[in-house]
Amino acid sequence: MRNFGKSGKIAVEGEKRLTIRQEEEKDYAQVYETVRRAFAGAEESDGNEQNLVCRLRKSTAFIPELSLVAETEGKIVGHIMFTRLKIAGTEQLALAPLAVLPEYQKQGIGGKLIESGHQIAKKMGFRFSVVLGHPSYYPKFGYRPAAGFGIKCPFDVPEECFMTATLQKADRLEGTVVYPPEFNIG
Ligand SMILES: CC(C)(COP(=O)(O)OP(=O)(O)OC[C@H]1O[C@@H](n2cnc3c(N)ncnc32)[C@H](O)[C@@H]1OP(=O)(O)O)[C@@H](O)C(=O)NCCC(=O)NCCS
Repeated sequence: MRNFGKSGKIAVEGEKRLTIRQEEEKDYAQVYETVRRAFAGAEESDGNEQNLVCRLRKSTAFIPELSLVAETEGKIVGHIMFTRLKIAGTEQLALAPLAVLPEYQKQGIGGKLIESGHQIAKKMGFRFSVVLGHPSYYPKFGYRPAAGFGIKCPFDVPEECFMTATLQKADRLEGTVVYPPEFNIG
């Protein structure tokens, strides 16, 4: 059985490494397919997440260091993007989208992408990462309802789906999130 858990290795026919690294231009086509295929069967998908990635890359919200790929044996199997958003006049992060190829899901890759992104974001000095997502998934990686930190969503959404992770010490910030226009929301 493959397992990309904490060790970052798979235990089938020897050891194959999973690498998390910054996305490069040569990866764009594979990332597009990874995002498209990951969301093809997802309940909340609008079928356009791969195009959102392209729009965000061209925007001022884009942070190259926080567009990461998961790679094994030279193949990209997952991708995560954190981009700039605003809360109370400060720059914080939006986690979106996160995608793992269907045949590689539930092996810990999504979690590794989130945790790697958080480590980089912490070093860059960001305080909050905001996500609109599944309330049974993101809390595994430190996300809690954003309202508890003073952070409000600019549109109606179930409170438990709009979440924030604190990247520095315990923190609070009163304000409504302003998403980059590329999200076409808020
Ligand atoms: C969501 C997604 C990125 C998770 O990636 P992954 O590599 O499968 O996640 P992990 O293996 O790190 O999952 C860790 C845990 O979350 C659980 N999990 C995985 N996907 C889940 C989902 N969609 N909903 C709830 N729990 C989920 C796993 O069972 C595992 O639980 P465990 O630790 O108790 O065993 C992946 O399923 C995906 O690409 N889905 C389609 C696109 C999507 O929905 N993206 C997120 C938008 S909010």
